Amino acid sequence: MYKNFSNGEWREEVSGFENINPSDTSDVVGVYAEAGKDAVTAAVEAAVAGQAIWEACTPQKRFEVLDFIGSEILSRQRELGLLLAREEGKIVPEAVGEVIRAGQIFKFYAGESLRLSGELLRSVRPGVEVAMRREPLGVVGLITPWNFPIAIPAWKIAPALAFGNAAILKPAEQTPGCAWALAEIISRSGLPEGVFHLLMGQGAVAGRALVENPQVAGLSFTGSVEVGREIACRRAERLGKVQLEMGGKNPLVVLDDADLPAAAEVAVNGAFYSTGQRCTASSRLIVTEGIHDRFVQALIQRLGHLKVGDAREPETAIGPLVDGAQLARSLEYIETGRKEGARLVFGGQRLTLEKQGFYLTPALFTETHNEMRINRDEIFGPVASVIRARDYEQALALANDTPFGLSSGICTTSLKYAHHFQQHARSGMVMVNLPTAGVDYHVPFGGCKGSSYGSREQGRYAAEFYTTVKTTYLAS
Ligand code: UN1
Repeated sequence: MYKNFSNGEWREEVSGFENINPSDTSDVVGVYAEAGKDAVTAAVEAAVAGQAIWEACTPQKRFEVLDFIGSEILSRQRELGLLLAREEGKIVPEAVGEVIRAGQIFKFYAGESLRLSGELLRSVRPGVEVAMRREPLGVVGLITPWNFPIAIPAWKIAPALAFGNAAILKPAEQTPGCAWALAEIISRSGLPEGVFHLLMGQGAVAGRALVENPQVAGLSFTGSVEVGREIACRRAERLGKVQLEMGGKNPLVVLDDADLPAAAEVAVNGAFYSTGQRCTASSRLIVTEGIHDRFVQALIQRLGHLKVGDAREPETAIGPLVDGAQLARSLEYIETGRKEGARLVFGGQRLTLEKQGFYLTPALFTETHNEMRINRDEIFGPVASVIRARDYEQALALANDTPFGLSSGICTTSLKYAHHFQQHARSGMVMVNLPTAGVDYHVPFGGCKGSSYGSREQGRYAAEFYTTVKTTYLAS
């Protein structure tokens, strides 16, 4: 059994759970320890002590620890990428890309630990100086999803450590393997005991205990809106700081003047890569009249070339869904779309291959309306809809008519529309002639409306969540 890591030790738990390869359900990646409530309580106590030690360490020490972790991830990118592909179902090039991203994130925050700065002002009173410093938040709980099983833990752990916090990671039940491998690297990084803890287990038990622990000063979560809302309510009762990254229903607007082959490529990438299991996926393709039919044809043609199969086979372009529940969810939405009157013009069939896996051909709907459930709810699978728009103005209105606001995109050769869209799209990230998914690691990530709650993740802005501002006055 792969053990949990807490207070500098590997902990066996009474029970464990299996990690299954979604490309081949007869392949068990491993059995992973399942933390109970007591393990969480013990980890938080140890983290409080560990955090005090870590806070006193120099920025140079923090740099060295984070740089070590980043270097080792990068040097083992192929091996870790294969593990990611095996447990999550992401194809190998995407999986290796994600591992590289995780390594780069640790390297970036190694540098940030040296650069954390404050502000110094003269007071309005004579002879007084005012200084604003950023201090560590304390112990942070990090609850991460299965769809980016190494990059998302990295983009929460790295800033947490860089800015002097102790961190407790509770990874998703479906993908504990990458989190365990990351914890094993961290365990050899020179980090003092008690500063980092890995608690694999069930969200309803270990996750909940972390959320409710009053000594957890900050809780950062990426996952569904339903769970995010519940976490926010429970944290509010305790006045605990919270940062939530949740769903998306991201629009990609394609205008008449778009470069057609480029726009089709952007749409296929944004909607279907990573099997559509990205909160930044382009699930609503809003296309203006003049290019609509040609765009749909180009998309269908491109989709016909994408091979669905085992994530680790080199010809595969689209891997399986992560588990049976996610497959069932996509299939149900495909059924809903049909009943709502949308036209399924490509895919949407469950595939039975030699190996038993959760395979689904990418599904494309046309003749859809923005009010249909398939265009309101986040499906989180390889399912996208085309919505016809009269002109740019209507396309923009449709793009913004959604309870979410994570990412949005436009394909156009017009500077006027590109610029207008950047200003008026109601989302945290706006892409011009690029997929709505696939972001840089050194700039802020997050959205508005139902997509995000609390301060931004990543880049220098991560300091907003992982530090507290102290204002000090000095008379001389
Ligand atoms: C990306 O699109 O590069 O869960 C990252 C998600 C997001 C990360 C997307 N939090 O899909």
